[in-house]
Amino acid sequence: MRSVIDILDLSVAEIDQLLATAQDVIAHPADYAHVCDGKKLATLFFEPSTRTRLSFEAAMYELGGHVISMASAASSSSAKGESVADTAKVVSCYADIIAMRHPKEGAALVAAQNATVPVINAGDGGHCHPTQTLADLLTIWREKGRFCDLTVGLCGDLKFGRTVHSLINALSRYGDVRFVLISPEELKVPSYVKRDVLQAGGIPYEQTTDLEGALPGLDILYMTRVQKERFFNEEDYLRLKDSYILTPQKLKNARADLTIMHPLPRVNEISVAIDDDPRACYFKQVLNGKFMRMALMLKLLKEAGTL
Ligand code: NCD
Repeated sequence: MRSVIDILDLSVAEIDQLLATAQDVIAHPADYAHVCDGKKLATLFFEPSTRTRLSFEAAMYELGGHVISMASAASSSSAKGESVADTAKVVSCYADIIAMRHPKEGAALVAAQNATVPVINAGDGGHCHPTQTLADLLTIWREKGRFCDLTVGLCGDLKFGRTVHSLINALSRYGDVRFVLISPEELKVPSYVKRDVLQAGGIPYEQTTDLEGALPGLDILYMTRVQKERFFNEEDYLRLKDSYILTPQKLKNARADLTIMHPLPRVNEISVAIDDDPRACYFKQVLNGKFMRMALMLKLLKEAGTL
């Protein structure tokens, strides 16, 4: 059974095909309004979410299908001690496809190994978040029209930010991308990502703490929030949470065609004064996420023989 746990579970050719499907959905939504008639998505979210969960649910409704869900992790059987493996087996009896978010790294993989329907990882701890990356890729494609010859600045919590890890993995497979990794010393990209992806792929990157210094050279700036829930003590979080705040003043030396992204939720990292700047693309990312989730669910349901 084909599941998507990591962005690397999809080949570059498959991602290109998903981008094409999403753009076809955007152009011809009526053609897709009934393709999933009678099908059911189960959303299993063991961690807070607004966008990802609602976006999966809206995506399934726009394909004509239905959604089943649990109100919260606290109200599900996991609170009684049920394992992820058992939950996956049980939910497979009710749904044609599962989207799951869990605070533990690897939980979605365990679910996929036990489910009899496709499982999509909607975020596992500080590990990865492939469907946010699909949203990010469609945004970059629509804004820039290319994935190569780009200087991409990633700023904020690069240690715990799972969207950052997945995006580095995805963009590194397209040629000629350079990364500028902007973070406090304590929140640098994990060494396994640097070693296994950037160094192994010969991808140029630099690490800095200086956002303003890096800004003029960037084609894309991907801001992230400091991941409060993954800190071991509150003191460290409070010290680091406002390390970077993007303001109109700081954008003065940025390129006129800069693309400003953020997976959201935003806390303080981007001043609301930037929201009306034509370079701000974070709300477009939200919409793009729904279209890519539609494309991904269609693909997995077709491969499973459900459609
Ligand atoms: C991200 C996540 O859950 O990792 N949110 C999202 O899905 N758009 C980013 C975050 O929580 O900071």
